[in-house]
Amino acid sequence: MKDAVQTKTILRALAGETLPTPPIWMMRQAGRYLPEYKATRAQAGDFLSLCYNPELAAEVTLQPIRRYGFDAAILFADILLVPQALGADLWFVTGEGPRLSTITAQSDFDVLKPVSAIHDTLNPIYETVRILRKELPEETTLIGFAGAPWTVATYMIAGQGTPDQGPAHALMQGNVALFEALLARITAATIEYLSAQIDAGAEVVKIFDSWAGSLKGEAFQKYAVAPCAEITAAIKARHPDIPIIGFPREAGDGYIGFHSKTGVDCVALDNSVSAEWAAAKVQVDGCVQGNLASSHMVTGGQALVDETRAIVKALSNGPHIFNLGHGITPDADPENVRLMIETVRAG
Ligand code: CP3
Repeated sequence: MKDAVQTKTILRALAGETLPTPPIWMMRQAGRYLPEYKATRAQAGDFLSLCYNPELAAEVTLQPIRRYGFDAAILFADILLVPQALGADLWFVTGEGPRLSTITAQSDFDVLKPVSAIHDTLNPIYETVRILRKELPEETTLIGFAGAPWTVATYMIAGQGTPDQGPAHALMQGNVALFEALLARITAATIEYLSAQIDAGAEVVKIFDSWAGSLKGEAFQKYAVAPCAEITAAIKARHPDIPIIGFPREAGDGYIGFHSKTGVDCVALDNSVSAEWAAAKVQVDGCVQGNLASSHMVTGGQALVDETRAIVKALSNGPHIFNLGHGITPDADPENVRLMIETVRAG
């Protein structure tokens, strides 16, 4: 197995190797900025039908690999499929985003399904993973993922995305027992979900804590660090060779020590921290991923080239996977993605 691991650049970086050119992939690389994505999504009918259609979900996962030759493919799915598998209602409002049934009282929690039931809903996702492992080029690494418990809980509590995660903070203050019971249920479900993705063929898993930045001080330790450490320990116990990427987005100083506190192999960085800072404070502990501002995929030009080069240079003395600081947006120009990749690979 070790020999196979050495051939894939993403796995080499995740094992701690400093490579002459960082491997590259991009958050939301399958998405609405690509005309071929929009065509397949239309064929599926809507976003959730696309997620649960293994052939079409595999197809959109492969589209950016064919177009650009990224070093990794990320499974096409969504972090909100776990709440749905736990029994929450989930739908997407075009132009607005996700909507879910809310959890504000014990009675809302009591009707959720047990963790053992999640695979009934999530089996098509594992089938997508199996198809991808067959169809991906040999050199391309397959990344599975899930949302971190805090981020998933913010959507389950509020029933939608919120600018400041107010409803989740309010439940934490007002009914901490219910809040922690919900986090524990999501944590246990996430362990089973990621483990099943790995059994189906995922070679790396990433934990997206998109709203980690709104947890401060003790709350960051309890509700971002601790659940990530618990998931990482459980996955490592079952699958010791599978690297894990943690993404406590906008954690700021919380990025410092995140590798050692959680056991993740790589810390993904948003673009609110500079690459120089990250090299000194975070990369000293292991592999980092990031962190070009996704706005460059809209604006392009020399600024894109300069900033890409600066990030590659600042992080060149340690293990690094090049990526954006957050997902690419629908208004991005696909040619700017090509320019970013060419700039990284030109060294
Ligand atoms: O990165 C990839 O290409 C893999 C697939 C992926 C999606 N969502 C597809 C998607 C991944 C890894 C996610 C993660 C995700 N989903 C996160 C964490 C990362 C982040 O962006 O912070 C979150 C918070 C979600 C929840 C979610 N899904 C929201 C808030 C939205 C609406 C916002 C938007 O961009 O429309 C989604 C929808 C979604 N998930 C789309 C895609 C391609 C767009 C849906 C469409 O095609 O209409």
